[in-house]
Amino acid sequence: MNSFTNYKDDILHMEDTNVLDIVNEVGTPVYCYSLNTIRRNYQLFSEYIPNGLICFAVKANSNIAVIKAVADMGGGADVVSEGEIRRALAAGIPSNKIIFSGVGKTEKEIIFALNKNIHQINVESLDELCLINKIAFKQGCVAPVAIRVNPNIDGKTNDKITTGLTINKFGVPEEMIGKIFEQNFANIDLLGVSVHIGSQICDKKVILNVFESVKKIVLKFKSFGCNVRRVDVGGGLGIAYLENEKVCSIEDYAQLLREKVCNLGYEVICEPGRSIVGNAGALITEVLYTKANGFIKHVIVDAGMNDFIRPALYDGKHRIIPIVQRTHQKEVVDIVGPICESGDIFARNYSIQTLHKGDLIAICDVGAYGASMSSTYNSRPLLPEVLVNKSKYAVIRKRGNYEDILNKDLVPEGIYDLED
Ligand code: LLP
Repeated sequence: MNSFTNYKDDILHMEDTNVLDIVNEVGTPVYCYSLNTIRRNYQLFSEYIPNGLICFAVKANSNIAVIKAVADMGGGADVVSEGEIRRALAAGIPSNKIIFSGVGKTEKEIIFALNKNIHQINVESLDELCLINKIAFKQGCVAPVAIRVNPNIDGKTNDKITTGLTINKFGVPEEMIGKIFEQNFANIDLLGVSVHIGSQICDKKVILNVFESVKKIVLKFKSFGCNVRRVDVGGGLGIAYLENEKVCSIEDYAQLLREKVCNLGYEVICEPGRSIVGNAGALITEVLYTKANGFIKHVIVDAGMNDFIRPALYDGKHRIIPIVQRTHQKEVVDIVGPICESGDIFARNYSIQTLHKGDLIAICDVGAYGASMSSTYNSRPLLPEVLVNKSKYAVIRKRGNYEDILNKDLVPEGIYDLED
């Protein structure tokens, strides 16, 4: 649950900043992030695993100013594309703290990563390993590699974000590990194991299971003669989106990691994304209209599923709260966006203070997979982002504009001929 839902004089503040001040300057919709929540989340990880490398999963929130908060605290980055490597470097993450994950790295991306001397590439298939070996040979270097193993563990999370089952495309199945060690790759330094079984994992037992399976996989690697030096346990720790939702805390997760994995004596890497930034963000949006269709009252806001897709894509539930508390009178409404799709709904049957045109609301806990998953669908400019530090705030991404949207399209002459 986020840490900024404090009302002063009935007005929502993020840290010590009045959200209305941000709205007056930047307009709506707008993403706001609490810097000190991000810092606190990161610190919880680092306190328990002081010798581990905490690589923030950049895909969760790829704003360079957000990544910089992690860089300033000594964190690394888990990236999945050349674009994310560029963002991490631009934010000040040293290349020797960058881990490159992903099932479909291109040759160009691998060349870029090796040129930048990143810390580790997490390899997901034999094909990929062969390609990296070839590229490293050409570049005259030895590629630092971990093998991502798919341990066939059910993360007990949404199907769309489960990655650790054999039916998923990720990693190398345990029974295929032998194949990796059949060949000798002269330009690969096989450093160890990586595992990532999915996201929004809340159950401590599942997490324990992952850590235990990592131990088993390390032994298997060793039985093939691998000189294991690193263990990367991935990310995936969930956050509480709803009141009273039971979730393994960062403290419990990190303590478990220390007890089960850090004591094995290897360099330990973890890749948290959501648990670092998720509860630090709010999406502030304005009510455009209210209307009743049959029994349902629809509150139509100016943010849409293009700006924040989690409810539409994963049926993700997020708390929604008013910016100005006016009354304790509540009603049950559907809070919907303006996009021409019925799935453009932020909350169904939601009990909230009676809302009118012009009211402002905050969709909570959107710091992870919010802005980073947004699009210009319906030709809507991307939203601005604001970073709050106590009573100060700064725009960290400008609101998109129509030039951004229109100027990429080309209307070439000579293609519209009706006949050859
Ligand atoms: N490492 C790897 C290899 C990953 O694929 C991911 C996330 C992470 C780390 C970070 O996981 P986290 O700690 O954030 O759970 N868009 C979805 C989540 C997709 C997660 C993709 N991989 C959502 O909004 O729920």
